[in-house]
Amino acid sequence: MRTQVGIVGAGPAGLMLSHLLHLEGIESVVLEARSREYVEQRVRAGVLEQGTVDLLRDTGLGDRLRREGLVHHGIELRFDGRGHRIALSDLTGGRSIFIYGQQEGDVDVTCDVIAGCDGFHGVSREAVPEGSLRSFQHEYPFAWLGVLAAVAPSTDELIYAYHDRGFALHSLRSPQISRLYLQVDPGEDVDDWPDDRIWEELRTRLHADGWTLADGPILEKGITPLRSFVAEPMQYGRLFLAGDAAHIVPATGAKGLNLAVADVRVLAEAIAGWYRTGSTDLLDGYSARCLRRVWRVQEFSSSMSSMLHRFPDDDGFRGRVQRAQLEWISRSEAAARSLAENYVGLPLT
Ligand code: DHB
Repeated sequence: MRTQVGIVGAGPAGLMLSHLLHLEGIESVVLEARSREYVEQRVRAGVLEQGTVDLLRDTGLGDRLRREGLVHHGIELRFDGRGHRIALSDLTGGRSIFIYGQQEGDVDVTCDVIAGCDGFHGVSREAVPEGSLRSFQHEYPFAWLGVLAAVAPSTDELIYAYHDRGFALHSLRSPQISRLYLQVDPGEDVDDWPDDRIWEELRTRLHADGWTLADGPILEKGITPLRSFVAEPMQYGRLFLAGDAAHIVPATGAKGLNLAVADVRVLAEAIAGWYRTGSTDLLDGYSARCLRRVWRVQEFSSSMSSMLHRFPDDDGFRGRVQRAQLEWISRSEAAARSLAENYVGLPLT
């Protein structure tokens, strides 16, 4: 089979890239190892930055988003049993985030360009010869136990809770579906977390005076490690890596999918430029242009993670520093604005 762009992976990055190329009149074939059902059912990120939402709308993908997407203008930081609202929109000239649930044979392909959009464990990055990429990584001494529950969220805005027993997060997917997370040790087994234990731990860590957490049937649970990873450059010849195939950010702040969309927007533009003019300038600049954003987001996601999680080896010093940071963000508009700017997402450049 002959096409212009071969895309490996039908996740958010691969499908968005295929769509953007289609709008430029460029043909692509998307290869996916898993079944359509697997791809559609997989639990994915649910927090979209303003820029991601604008891109979906501008490229004709805004219909379901308009019907089902929930606009959020703030988040809450919760510690010592009290909530502190970060007014995202007020602090960023009206930008916001959107909650938008994403899950609803051998082929030989010959193509001009390959886009590796097949995630951290995919084959694309592995196909690059040894020594051609430099990778940077950091493992955090904690993981997230994530659950999807059939219960109306007990909050209108996301709650990021700092607690001596570890971090907890109350998020949502829709008015009927809650998404909740607990910090756990990376080696833990999900079988050690029966539903009752999960709800009890969530109630403890999310506690605030005068607030209660409603529980309900847990539909799915899983444990994900938190890690940082970046492969440089995000290119080898005419293979371009995008999204998790090139980089992983720790989950805190929900940046992974948004970063993947930012990559493929740059890549689609570069590929279109090359077909239009014959110049490889934009393609050659792809990696450097993406990596600037990637490292900005690495810094934000790792500092959010470090501020909110309990470190297993903490003798008390780090905890005091974390609390000082949380109090500073609750008190200083400048500190809150810095968090808000990064949280709603920097403009796609
Ligand atoms: C979600 C995930 C995150 O990592 C986060 O910071 C906020 C929300 C979520 O899955 O809803």
